[in-house]
Amino acid sequence: MAPRKIIIDTDPGQDDAVAILLALASPDDLDVLGITAVAGNVPLPLTQKNARIVCELAGKPETKVFSGCDAPIARKLVTAEHVHGKTGLDGPSLPDPSMALQDQHAVDFIVETLRSEPEGTITLCPLGPLTNIATALQRAPDIAGRIQEIVLMGGAYFEVGNITPAAEFNIYVDPEAAKVVFACGAPITVMPLDVTHKALVTAERNNAFRALGSPVGVAVAEMTDFFERFDKEKYGSAGAPLHDPCVTAYLIQPELFTGRHINVEIETGSDLTLGMTVADWWGVTDRAPNATFMGDINADGFFSLLTERLARL
Ligand code: BDR
Ligand code: CA
Repeated sequence: MAPRKIIIDTDPGQDDAVAILLALASPDDLDVLGITAVAGNVPLPLTQKNARIVCELAGKPETKVFSGCDAPIARKLVTAEHVHGKTGLDGPSLPDPSMALQDQHAVDFIVETLRSEPEGTITLCPLGPLTNIATALQRAPDIAGRIQEIVLMGGAYFEVGNITPAAEFNIYVDPEAAKVVFACGAPITVMPLDVTHKALVTAERNNAFRALGSPVGVAVAEMTDFFERFDKEKYGSAGAPLHDPCVTAYLIQPELFTGRHINVEIETGSDLTLGMTVADWWGVTDRAPNATFMGDINADGFFSLLTERLARL
């Protein structure tokens, strides 16, 4: 089968970096048409630079990286340096990129690709706030019906929130954008905190990355070491959750995940619960299902896949 064509929309972020590395390590499964950077974990000048650093780390400087929206649709940007460090990619010491950024704006690239490729053949993989994707949908509503699937990391139901008591970071940063995306009618698969909080990088799993002995394996181990300090303290867990790679792993091995096709709405009105993903997991409303909301992961299978693929870079 031909590899699935994807656009990764991202705000690297160490876990975004690992998600990108997994995709770039899997060319038989995934054809990365472009990486579109958005403001999120850190401001846009850093996320677009980090995306290029990661492509070069993977030995794939030919990957197209585009810069997108520098602020949410209707709000001031909230960032997460307290988790990811000042650069967004703190941990390993990686060289500045020499590959160029594409001239085209990320939103234009998303619109143009969806219009020019055959209908139903492009999958969008948002790993950060949904600003670029929602802006593309607002500018060109015709693209919604052309999307094969949107597989995104964001939201939570049973785990509720990580940036506020009620909201997950990616949705909280741009709830208006999330509302547009969840209402767009394209098939949506969600990797919420309910899943990603089970994808914990234990010491043993991190040692397996380091033991690859390659620049990629060592960098991934160092990235994880860095952001773990925050999550371990916060959750008292055995390791940090590796959120975003759940998206690219799902595209390679969907059977690692289970969930339900349900209705998911985004709270944009209440200050208290802003950005909450109101997921009708128990089917207690008659609101139409609009997303497959994952609930569980085979974590051992996920880490085996990840380690095996990173070894290829
Ligand atoms: C999400 O927020 C970011 O900090 C991570 O990169 C991930 O995409 C988890 O809530
Ligand atoms: Ca992210």
